Amino acid sequence: MASEIIEKLQWRYATKKFDANKKLTNEKLSVLKEAFNLTATSYGLQPLKMVIVSEAKMKEALVPLTMDQAQVKDCSNVLVLCIEAAMTSEYIKKYFNKVEDLRKTPREILAPFESFLTTSFSEKTEEEISNWMSKQAYLAMGNLLTVCALENIDACPIEGFVPAKYDDYLGLKKLGLKSVLVLAVGHRAEDDLFADMKKVRRGIDQVVIEM
Ligand SMILES: Cc1cc2nc3c(=O)[nH]c(=O)nc-3n(C[C@H](O)[C@H](O)[C@H](O)COP(=O)(O)O)c2cc1C
Repeated sequence: MASEIIEKLQWRYATKKFDANKKLTNEKLSVLKEAFNLTATSYGLQPLKMVIVSEAKMKEALVPLTMDQAQVKDCSNVLVLCIEAAMTSEYIKKYFNKVEDLRKTPREILAPFESFLTTSFSEKTEEEISNWMSKQAYLAMGNLLTVCALENIDACPIEGFVPAKYDDYLGLKKLGLKSVLVLAVGHRAEDDLFADMKKVRRGIDQVVIEM
């Protein structure tokens, strides 16, 4: 199994050219939705949402907002990883309501942690909070990339886009969201030259230090 995973990770690459005629099945998309939702996040607060853009005209409109990268047009779906615009005490309360409800944990047991989180977030600047949230989005991206590899879904992680323009075009502000990362998913075009290129990586002995 371990070597199978490595084979899959060798198979995946940042896809530069998607086959515009090949769409992901609903089953594959469901796996990606579940995997996104199962991503571990700091304190379990999940300050993230994933917007899925599938409509052809919308994907085409995203190209100029993505440094003219054609992947967002030719892929099957564009996953836009977004962070919440704010972390409010109301949001934290809802999370603890859910813990109480699902795990039947008495509120008095949860109260000290809830109060710690509420105070701690109220003392942070907006920038500190959005940096923290963005880190969670990168975790989700990593998780999705691995799941894509295991599911034979091709993907291109994309930082080369203009978040403010995505936010405007997708109406994210009124949803209380800000875009931070894009993941184009679908199936590689047969003539994507990058598919057969060797992986460029530092040696294991250069990136792993054993003590
Ligand atoms: C956070 C992040 C942002 C990236 N942004 C882009 C991008 O905007 N466009 C692109 O073609 N590739 C992008 N890449 C792909 C990387 O260039 C690629 O993953 C890296 O060169 C390693 O190659 P491989 O993924 O094919 O193994 C991004 C990768 C990551 C992890």
